[in-house]
Amino acid sequence: MSSSRLGRFADKCMSADAAAALVASGSTVGMSGFTGSGYPKAVPLALAGRIEAEHAAGHPFKLRVWTGASTGPELDGALAKADGIELRLPYNSDPIAREKINAGKMDYLDMHLSQVAPMAWQGFLGPLDTALIEVSGIRADGSLIPSSSIGNNKTWLDRASQVILEVNHWQNPALEGMHDIYYGTALPPHRVPIPLIRADDRIGEPFFRCDPDKIVAIVETDSPDRNAPFTPPDAAALGIAGHLLEFFRHEVARGRLPASLLPLQSGVGNVANAVLTGLIDGPFDNMTAYTEVIQDGMLDLLASGRLRMASATAFSLSPEAAAAVNTDMARYRDTMILRPQEISNHPEIIRRLGCLAMNGLIEADIYGNVNSTHVMGSRIQNGIGGSGDFARNAYVSIFMTPSTAKGGTISAIVPFASHVDHIAQDVQVLVTEQGLADLRGLSPKQRARLIIARCAHPAYRDALADYFERAQHGAYGLQTPMLPAEALSWHQRFIETGTMRPA
Ligand code: COA
Repeated sequence: MSSSRLGRFADKCMSADAAAALVASGSTVGMSGFTGSGYPKAVPLALAGRIEAEHAAGHPFKLRVWTGASTGPELDGALAKADGIELRLPYNSDPIAREKINAGKMDYLDMHLSQVAPMAWQGFLGPLDTALIEVSGIRADGSLIPSSSIGNNKTWLDRASQVILEVNHWQNPALEGMHDIYYGTALPPHRVPIPLIRADDRIGEPFFRCDPDKIVAIVETDSPDRNAPFTPPDAAALGIAGHLLEFFRHEVARGRLPASLLPLQSGVGNVANAVLTGLIDGPFDNMTAYTEVIQDGMLDLLASGRLRMASATAFSLSPEAAAAVNTDMARYRDTMILRPQEISNHPEIIRRLGCLAMNGLIEADIYGNVNSTHVMGSRIQNGIGGSGDFARNAYVSIFMTPSTAKGGTISAIVPFASHVDHIAQDVQVLVTEQGLADLRGLSPKQRARLIIARCAHPAYRDALADYFERAQHGAYGLQTPMLPAEALSWHQRFIETGTMRPA
């Protein structure tokens, strides 16, 4: 193994098993990782092996695991499979961990991603014993070259009692210089404005500071990030992208958006990717992005020259896009900035820049309350992620979804959301492949009429209109009409019959 990326810490180099032995049962580990990039890949696997051995010997062994957001199978998957996680925060998309959470075998704190670092500093989450962070190198002065995500790494390195580093040789050395780590955050009453005025401002340093005395282990790895392939956009995704592009054109024509739009924020997934790809053929130039993750569509936009720069906290790329970035990193480095997630998702900055927030959802009700997290109101899918940070503070807060799920048996537009992450006041535009509802300036009843007419699938439109009509004339036909006994009957029908469609 090369020691060129280890700086003066080569003597702390050890195996993943030896590093895992330094983590105590019952302790809290703050790990790197955000949407499958930059997460530690060897020590969590070694920890999972150790936990399985301890369990086989009849010894309980569990960890509290904090990260930036989702990670990969070597971390969440392996530790969850070993029943090694007592509590997980702030976001998960791993299927094994999801099962354990929903089965009640693992506690889960689903948090706004911008609030994790401040809450750690406030002490609300308890002490942090170990920071386990993937970096792409260690500099001669002991500062750390970040990897393909930043997430909460700065905070974990600052707060933890001990630090374990994974130096991943797979990560391109040319990542060096792309990052912007801001050290000016503080707790009230010492908080000051964050001096970021444009999406491409650099306000920090390219490296992490790290107290060398806290580093107890360095493990070298050479493993790829979890780069999931994107499926080509289907008809629904293309339809949503078309409606959104038309909306942006209209807003520019009305003088409500500049010709280069405002900084884009785009959620993850295929629909978001299709929208970004669609912007390549649109009329907008010189765009910027102030977002959480850089995904394939963002790269295509950068390559097309339409997007001038993108600021985020992590990459979330397909294997092909990751390879393309890796080969051409020197060029991309000048057009991309990765920042801590408390800055990429900071309400103050999102509000100042006027981001155009575009996020996915599980279901929305006829008034525009949005459920992003819980299937049938109870089963956690992923988590709120950064959608709340952006939706509440955006210039225009847009939510998008296919109008049906599970082969048409579920309507994404329902009489009553079975769980609410984004209240109607935070949802200004709702888009499905059926159409776009601009809800700004509308009362609840006006919103309901528009959402049913524009966004609902034709197979469910009449039933929604019927519900709304009867609700208006019932005992609760007040400011926000409701039929309490029927509000969740669509979900009940799906659970009992496998479809929401009325008999
Ligand atoms: N009822 C039941 N299941 C539903 C559903 C509904 N109304 N809508 C979607 N689903 C299911 C899908 O069938 C799919 O299930 P599967 O994994 O078994 O195939 C799953 O939920 C994911 O849906 P998918 O259509 O693949 O959507 P997506 O990739 O666009 O993700 C969210 C949608 C809401 C899950 C995703 O956007 C998310 O996690 N959002 C919260 C975090 C966020 O917004 N982050 C970005 C902020 S920067």
